[in-house]
Amino acid sequence: MRSRNSGPQPYPQRPSRLGELSPEESAIYAQLDPARIPQHVAIIMDGNGRWAGKRALKRFLGHQQGAESVQYVVEVASRIDLPWITLYAFSIENNLKRPKSEVSFLMRLLSNYLTGNVKRMNDNNVRVAYIGRTEGLPAEIQETMQWASAETARNTGTTLTLALNYGSRSEIVDATRGLLRSLMAEAHQRGISLEDLLQVDGVEARVDEAQIEQHLYTAHMPDPDLVIRTSGEQRISNFLLWQIAYAEIFVTDRLWPDFRGIHLLEAIHNFQQRERRFGGLGEGTDELLEGNDPSLESPESIAAELAGR
Ligand code: FPP
Repeated sequence: MRSRNSGPQPYPQRPSRLGELSPEESAIYAQLDPARIPQHVAIIMDGNGRWAGKRALKRFLGHQQGAESVQYVVEVASRIDLPWITLYAFSIENNLKRPKSEVSFLMRLLSNYLTGNVKRMNDNNVRVAYIGRTEGLPAEIQETMQWASAETARNTGTTLTLALNYGSRSEIVDATRGLLRSLMAEAHQRGISLEDLLQVDGVEARVDEAQIEQHLYTAHMPDPDLVIRTSGEQRISNFLLWQIAYAEIFVTDRLWPDFRGIHLLEAIHNFQQRERRFGGLGEGTDELLEGNDPSLESPESIAAELAGR
């Protein structure tokens, strides 16, 4: 007879790290529903330049201070067991349109950030990953990136994904190319033409949302539930366009270098006040529809009813 304790043992649970929140952070966390912490928060970190400008400092200092904010926010994310946090750290447009001196400063800052924080990532059980056309970054930066992700690969807590040389439209182009390549490889393996392969199952079955999703950089991640943008700009700036189809958007006037873990908790609190509908009807709509079958109504009868009011 199998003993009750035989078989694979569950992975030992790590003790809760909520006790490491500051008293102010704990007070906000106490107002949250722990069962509805988002699975994935994505952040457009904006306002480094303005933060520096307001203090008559060089833009570089804004970026430097922004790198400090990254670590504060990631550590609070790990303390509340947020599974995924994705930060827009360097876009393809930043790479192409910013002065070379600023781009090379940002690259050095990223490299210093990774080398200086891997130990803290490990202490906080944070895994580091990347999305974007990272092959377009300088070779030595890619080496540091690979080193940091390898050093933290065994961590099981929050995954910090840095979007680097990232653009959402180019991600969708890369996914489409990837899907096409995999179909061509399959046709080749079966000794048939691509046209014949598509005819066997039908194009609709071979090219659909799920297939495209599987080829996005984010194939292994849940879609973001919440997108935060700092510095008051109400734009998405080519960030995760496919993945944020149903995300809630939170814009704060706070500039990124002033953003801390407590502000992440405030954004999550705001997120928890919202009703997500995913294109459906809101809660409580059933009662409104009761005894009122819309399929029995015609647009003409509704128009007449409205006119009679
Ligand atoms: C936007 O500020 C921010 C960026 C272009 C880059 C984000 C980089 C960091 C937060 C620092 C380094 C990151 C890591 C991961 C170490 P902006 O320059 O567009 O600000 P502005 O709109 O006020 O000029």
